[in-house]
Amino acid sequence: MSGGVLPDLRELSDEVNRNFEAIVLGGARAKQGMPSFAKRLSPADLAAIQAYLAEQRAAERAGGAEDGASKN
Ligand code: HEM
Repeated sequence: MSGGVLPDLRELSDEVNRNFEAIVLGGARAKQGMPSFAKRLSPADLAAIQAYLAEQRAAERAGGAEDGASKN
């Protein structure tokens, strides 16, 4: 999907998933180019995004076709 500059958010490590709020709202990766979205997103939005990503991850594991070749 992306050319490799941006991470595939379906494939985050457990560590990153645990730090999701610090990264997306807190700007913990701001130096690396991932700005804080605290002005745009609420913690409830984040929960919705994480739920969506978990769903996408499950679909990918279940053999979802799109972009599969680059994943495994
Ligand atoms: C709601 C939208 C977004 C979410 C939930 C999100 C989430 C994340 C997360 C969790 C990471 C850490 C990945 C990791 O360390 O494995 C990350 C990294 C990154 N994000 Fe975002 N992101 C969003 C939007 C954006 C946008 C719009 C941009 C660019 C304008 C961007 C640029 C980046 C970059 C460059 C990194 C890599 C940082 C690094 O190398 O450590 N993100 N993003």
